[in-house]
Amino acid sequence: MPAEDCAVRFEKVTKRFGSQTVLDGVSFEVRQGSAFCLLGRSGTGKSVTLKHIIGLMKPDSGRVRVEGQDVSALSRRDLSRLRTRMGFLFQNAALFDSISVGDNVAFPIRRHAKLAVSDVRDRVRQKLEEVGLEREAGKMPSELSGGMRKRVGLARAMALDPSILLVDEPSAGLDPITAGEIDSLLSQLKSNRGTTLIIVTHNIPSARRLGDELAVLHGGHLIARGPAQELETSDHEVVRGFMRSEGGG
Ligand SMILES: Nc1ncnc2c1ncn2[C@@H]1O[C@H](COP(=O)(O)OP(=O)(O)OP(=O)(O)O)[C@@H](O)[C@H]1O
Ligand SMILES: [Mg+2]
Repeated sequence: MPAEDCAVRFEKVTKRFGSQTVLDGVSFEVRQGSAFCLLGRSGTGKSVTLKHIIGLMKPDSGRVRVEGQDVSALSRRDLSRLRTRMGFLFQNAALFDSISVGDNVAFPIRRHAKLAVSDVRDRVRQKLEEVGLEREAGKMPSELSGGMRKRVGLARAMALDPSILLVDEPSAGLDPITAGEIDSLLSQLKSNRGTTLIIVTHNIPSARRLGDELAVLHGGHLIARGPAQELETSDHEVVRGFMRSEGGG
């Protein structure tokens, strides 16, 4: 894939914690404007992979490129600038508990976009509307259900209209209808805005619907990568097992 078409590129990335090698020379690329779904058993390094993309973690060896830039070689200022082009929904939503839902969503906007107070308010309302929470702007995160927190996290991740959106288990803990709505929202972002999506999920039906490419992380390696149909006929039992499973959130 030509470098300019590539939103994210891992080049032989290795990451260890103590004696544990979580990523063992992982390479892949994600085409701009496509949806890439990362699958794998619990503890295989999916969240660690996402954290490398936003520069929260650095590889022990290898390189992570985002829109061509080597993430770990960037100065703080350049990394911060690059991050404004990326939205990140953490697995646990990671809301700021001492400020309201509306202020959580407004936070990146106030920090990085120079908008009038009324424009910030409109943007926050629009993002909360997109996740179906326009009435909860005044609530505190502790007053929300788990699934609602997740959706606020998604609204915050989308606040700056990022060109790359990274979401860690967007539908975990959501009922099937809400999960389906989140899927449609993500797929609209991709088709209407050309947002690149990198999605960690245990929800195989959702990965099938959304993902242009699926990849399975196992034992430190990507043991399969390709469109869903291709993974179904993989030689690898773990991969076929994943594709057969219907559960998960
Ligand atoms: N900051 C850290 N320090 C030490 N070990 C870590 C750290 N972060 C992750 N790990 C380890 O790396 C491994 C992969 O963790 P990761 O959170 O990426 O798993 P995951 O694939 O996202 O799993 P799950 O599906 O349960 O969310 C785990 O064994 C975890 O204990
Ligand atoms: Mg995880």
